[in-house]
Amino acid sequence: MLSRGRKYRAAAALVLLLLIAWAAAPWVATASVPAAAWTVAETPKLIALTFDDGPRRSTTTALLDGLAERGVKATFFLIGKQLEDNEDLIRRMDAEGHQIGIHTYDHVSLTGLSKADFDAQVAVTRQKLMDILGHDGFLLRPPYGAVDDAVRKNAGCPIILWSIDPEDWGDQNAAREIEHVVANAKDGSIILLHDIFSPSVEAALAIVDRLHAQGYLFVTVEELFAARHITLEAGKVYRDAYP
Ligand code: NI
Repeated sequence: MLSRGRKYRAAAALVLLLLIAWAAAPWVATASVPAAAWTVAETPKLIALTFDDGPRRSTTTALLDGLAERGVKATFFLIGKQLEDNEDLIRRMDAEGHQIGIHTYDHVSLTGLSKADFDAQVAVTRQKLMDILGHDGFLLRPPYGAVDDAVRKNAGCPIILWSIDPEDWGDQNAAREIEHVVANAKDGSIILLHDIFSPSVEAALAIVDRLHAQGYLFVTVEELFAARHITLEAGKVYRDAYP
């Protein structure tokens, strides 16, 4: 059971989240639903869009434009070797409120690596992101979701996997991906897509529109777990934030 203080803080956090959502998200601010009528019982369903394997200038730019039009924040797990010449894109993601994480330097499986080889993939990418953005706090998504004891030990940050995977890299069929994600969406889901494919960008924006119509609020991974009062811990694996 929550203490009275925790209950109060939980309620206050929800009200704050709703106020932020109301201020930043025009799709919920309709004349027929005044903000004053919102209560904790009407908390929106939360969901996180995550994108791996980028950035790729053409497709990532199109995605950022579409997310900005919709007032949506997402999480990007980036490839270290693709940061060069894309520094402006990374800064744009950060400035627009998206969350940024690490998806290794060369897109390799992290299992079975020595500490030195692990650091060449993760620590080097972390340092490059810090040099570009001037802050740390980057989560880790291991390629292929491959995690073992050494990965957990060496991560140095929370490890974020996913709960909905339409395998968009396969047939690159936007219509199929949209149906897969919408059919499987739940409050607290983490969706995996790849912003290096045009059909995935098209699917992501359609998924946003479809799930907005169902009352979902898109948040970053960090916001998703904070809203559920789950403190992310280094070396632990997270796949969803189902209530
Ligand atoms: Ni990947």
